[in-house]
Amino acid sequence: MPTVLALMPPSASLRDSYRSLIAECVASGEALVPFTLAFENADFDAFLARLSDCAAGIGVPDGFVAHSTFWLVRDQTEVVGVSNIRHALTPSLRREGGHIGYGIRPSSRRQGLGIAILQHSLQRAAGLGLSRVLITCGKSNIASASVIVRNGGVLESEEYLADRGEVVQRYWITNGYTD
Ligand SMILES: CC(C)(COP(=O)(O)OP(=O)(O)OC[C@H]1O[C@@H](n2cnc3c(N)ncnc32)[C@H](O)[C@@H]1OP(=O)(O)O)[C@@H](O)C(=O)NCCC(=O)NCCS
Repeated sequence: MPTVLALMPPSASLRDSYRSLIAECVASGEALVPFTLAFENADFDAFLARLSDCAAGIGVPDGFVAHSTFWLVRDQTEVVGVSNIRHALTPSLRREGGHIGYGIRPSSRRQGLGIAILQHSLQRAAGLGLSRVLITCGKSNIASASVIVRNGGVLESEEYLADRGEVVQRYWITNGYTD
């Protein structure tokens, strides 16, 4: 049977799979990307409500814009990735962060899912009216840079950011999807 992938809003039915994704990321010792992976989820209904509020711009901190979180789900049963789409850019996101952040479950990497989650996220971004999308990544993050380029990303600039202690690259993608 071919694998079926879908990028969908978070849901209670996949709670355990989502939690196992986070457990894998924590066990691997890496930073949680996108940042909503760090949201408390012990009360899962409250967690889902918070994400829903964020998408409506409700309760987001000062300086933040509305942002939507989606799960990449394999065969309707396994959360293999998470993406977060910022609905607009701020000067801070323009510098670092961009419109979309994404991460793939460590045990599911190198199977093309990184390319897939960004592709699906671009489709969602079109639904939010984003015809040009900024994506940033650390220059040493070869996998993420590949994901961006494979989705049509064109390098705009790179800059050493002292607060991150690394060179950050900024890529623009002309969104081939339309609303
Ligand atoms: C970046 C990330 C999403 C890539 O996910 P993935 O599922 O492994 O990516 P894919 O399998 O689609 O591979 C995409 C490309 O990266 C390459 N790649 C993947 N992992 C790599 C690695 N560790 N080293 C070098 N190249 C790598 C693949 O070979 C592929 O290259 P290709 O374009 O030549 O085919 C994943 O590593 C991740 O979640 N990292 C942590 C979070 C993060 O860094 N997010 C991006 C910041 S917004």
